Amino acid sequence: MWRDLTPIGRDGGTNGYHRFAWTREDHTLREWFVAQAEARGLDVTVDRVGNQWAWWGDPDAALAAGRPGIVTGSHLDSVPDGGAFDGPLGVVSAFAALDALRDRGFEPDRPIGVVNFIDEEGARFGVACAGSRVLTGAMTADRARSLTDGDGVSMAEALRSAGRDPDSLGPDSETVRRVGTFVELHVEQGRHLSDLEVDTPVAVGSDIWPHGRWRIRTLGEANHAGTTRLEDRDDAMLGFAAAVIAARRAAATHGCVATIGKVAVTPGGVNAIASEVTGWLDARGSDEAAVRRVVADVTEVVNDFEGLVIEDSWTGTTPFDPALVRRLSTRLGGIPVIGTGAGHDAGILANAGVPTAMLFVRNPTGISHSPEEFATSQDCLAGVEALTTVLTDLAGVPA
Ligand code: GLV
Ligand code: MN
Ligand code: MN
Repeated sequence: MWRDLTPIGRDGGTNGYHRFAWTREDHTLREWFVAQAEARGLDVTVDRVGNQWAWWGDPDAALAAGRPGIVTGSHLDSVPDGGAFDGPLGVVSAFAALDALRDRGFEPDRPIGVVNFIDEEGARFGVACAGSRVLTGAMTADRARSLTDGDGVSMAEALRSAGRDPDSLGPDSETVRRVGTFVELHVEQGRHLSDLEVDTPVAVGSDIWPHGRWRIRTLGEANHAGTTRLEDRDDAMLGFAAAVIAARRAAATHGCVATIGKVAVTPGGVNAIASEVTGWLDARGSDEAAVRRVVADVTEVVNDFEGLVIEDSWTGTTPFDPALVRRLSTRLGGIPVIGTGAGHDAGILANAGVPTAMLFVRNPTGISHSPEEFATSQDCLAGVEALTTVLTDLAGVPA
């Protein structure tokens, strides 16, 4: 499976991935998902948002009998120049765990589902976890349809180009109800496991830090870079530069992290003064109030330059289901339980009331959202084994 996925959307120069929602690359990944499901005789359904679900067993019959399904999986899209593991490791491990269960003659007492969430990274339209947000009603269909990408293409237009009806977009409670429990396996995006003295390839996730995205916009007047005297300039870049420095300072002051990794400059000429700068602030931390203080500090500076800060998305502290977390850690031999600063569809489902937990697979460098992201094959296989144990426990006949 890994070999088939590797070439899709990979930049031959950097080895980074460019797999954005509703693009040709995404289409190829979605076809791959369907082929994997069909090869295993699983039933594929696509919900109102476009998330793909492959079921072993009938989730509706089981739900009617009071045994909602156990779902695992992740996403196949990437950030710009992303790594190979963030997302795909969870989907591949889900299919591999299912194979292991069948090889061992396991007969599930509940249906098992594998999911591929659409647009987890929000790399194209700006809002992370768009697929699970719309699915659960955390983002309205109207807002999703109106989001635009860097070329001004709306999500509605992108859906149409991908052969989908944008009017069908909306919350899908029928799909959510089928998910009795969700366990997402993911590559670790920090060094927690690799820094432990004991050799531990897998951990259970306990919670996700509060995090959000804000758009910073500063305005000025375009003019000539050579003939405009410094005192005559109204340079949008100055306010924006102050915001970047303020974000870093505020993050340090309030014990958070803040990132401005995407910027658009108008008119964008080397020899023209900027008339408008838009940048995206990503701020996170363990404490919601502290993250809000970072944004307030940045906003104050931006307002001094008569700029604007607009909230694009916010996700509060997200604990996973404590009983489920304990159960997973115990079944897996008392493995560590760790929190994360990364966002996941698992967080959106948890906030929608679905009992949810995560498994993290050790990443020796801790690097993520970069072509350097890595996990050894041995650790990935340990992840599959852990997921197999978890599914055996959750989908097996109760003791
Ligand atoms: C998703 O990976 C995020 O945390 O931004
Ligand atoms: Mn990611
Ligand atoms: Mn991810």
